[in-house]
Amino acid sequence: MTASIDGPDLEFSGVTKIFSGRAVVRRVSLTVQPGEFIAVLGPSGSGKSTLLKIAAGFEFPDEGCILLRGKDVTTEPPYRRNVNTVFQSYALFPHMSVADNVAYGLRRKKVPQTEIAHKVKEALALVGLHRFWDNSPTTLSGGEQQRVALARALVNRPAVLLLDEPLSALDLKIRRRMQIELKRIHQEVGTTFLFVTHDQEEALVMADRIVVMREGALEQVGTAREIYDAPVTPFVADFVGELNWLDANASSGAAILSDGAQIKLPEASQHRRGPVRIGFRPEKMRLAPIDAVIGPQDNGVRATITSVTFQGPITTVDLRLTDGMIVRCQSSATDTIELPEKGGTVLCLWQIGSTLVFDASPTEQT
Ligand SMILES: Nc1ncnc2c1ncn2[C@@H]1O[C@H](COP(=O)(O)OP(=O)(O)O)[C@@H](O)[C@H]1O
Ligand SMILES: [Mg+2]
Repeated sequence: MTASIDGPDLEFSGVTKIFSGRAVVRRVSLTVQPGEFIAVLGPSGSGKSTLLKIAAGFEFPDEGCILLRGKDVTTEPPYRRNVNTVFQSYALFPHMSVADNVAYGLRRKKVPQTEIAHKVKEALALVGLHRFWDNSPTTLSGGEQQRVALARALVNRPAVLLLDEPLSALDLKIRRRMQIELKRIHQEVGTTFLFVTHDQEEALVMADRIVVMREGALEQVGTAREIYDAPVTPFVADFVGELNWLDANASSGAAILSDGAQIKLPEASQHRRGPVRIGFRPEKMRLAPIDAVIGPQDNGVRATITSVTFQGPITTVDLRLTDGMIVRCQSSATDTIELPEKGGTVLCLWQIGSTLVFDASPTEQT
């Protein structure tokens, strides 16, 4: 192993990348600490792959710089950077054995044969594929092939492993298994991971911190909890999980709906005045009889049930508020045993503390 250096493993500092006159990565600054698992999350076209390629040296920024373990590598080619990349396509050599695929980079670096054998064995054990040493990659499943690609990328212990939607080609069940597997591998090797995905669930499950990208810029950086419970913009709130939105007018610590119903605002939003968007998550809402008392910590609005959908572990109830807005309630099946029928009128309750408040302005900036 290289001598450990204090400070971050990877830093983007004011990185901008322009393609055909358009900035596809915009002033990105991000510091990745040793051993972190960072997920870069964003919709297709938001600049995730470009950001990763800039870290790898496959693209060069128009502005800003990249530091790897404190060293400026902005203009260095990929082979001079102590990083490796795993792509969605496995890109294994079909005519070579699994072991030779993993050994490839070490051989090119002229690492002694005995050391190669030892390292390859270790890397294949890490991904649970030591049995497949002599196999051709073509005989392996998609999940197994991706694990070979992972072993190949980790065998020379890079400072940072870059992963660009590595699980996207796998079907859902295998993908879920690989998410857990990848997390275990990360913990075992302790290498810094920068993992790109457009799948919010994948990011929530896997990452220590999530970086939400939108149109080339970082919209929010935080733990899964922070991103989910305290999104800083409506974009983040909408992109990560589902949200109910209500348009309202804020004054004196409350937001008033068009029918006069009041939503109490959380402490940090008491100062709000004028048009706002109120958000709350479907699973944070519960239904109560129409004459139930609204507790001091709760918000409550009346609504009519428009549909009830049983989905096994959860039940989804769609409701229409008296002013016409639509909201959704999701709860575990056991909570909804006494669920009123479609057409019934109920009280929708959720905690003031889980009420999100944003500006109503179309720019969506808060
Ligand atoms: N080599 C390139 N030349 C021109 N435009 C590019 C190039 N690579 C990416 N883009 C554009 O940059 C934007 C971001 O692309 P990308 O980083 O691949 O996004 P993501 O990985 O988030 O889907 C897209 O609009 C894409 O079309
Ligand atoms: Mg991409």
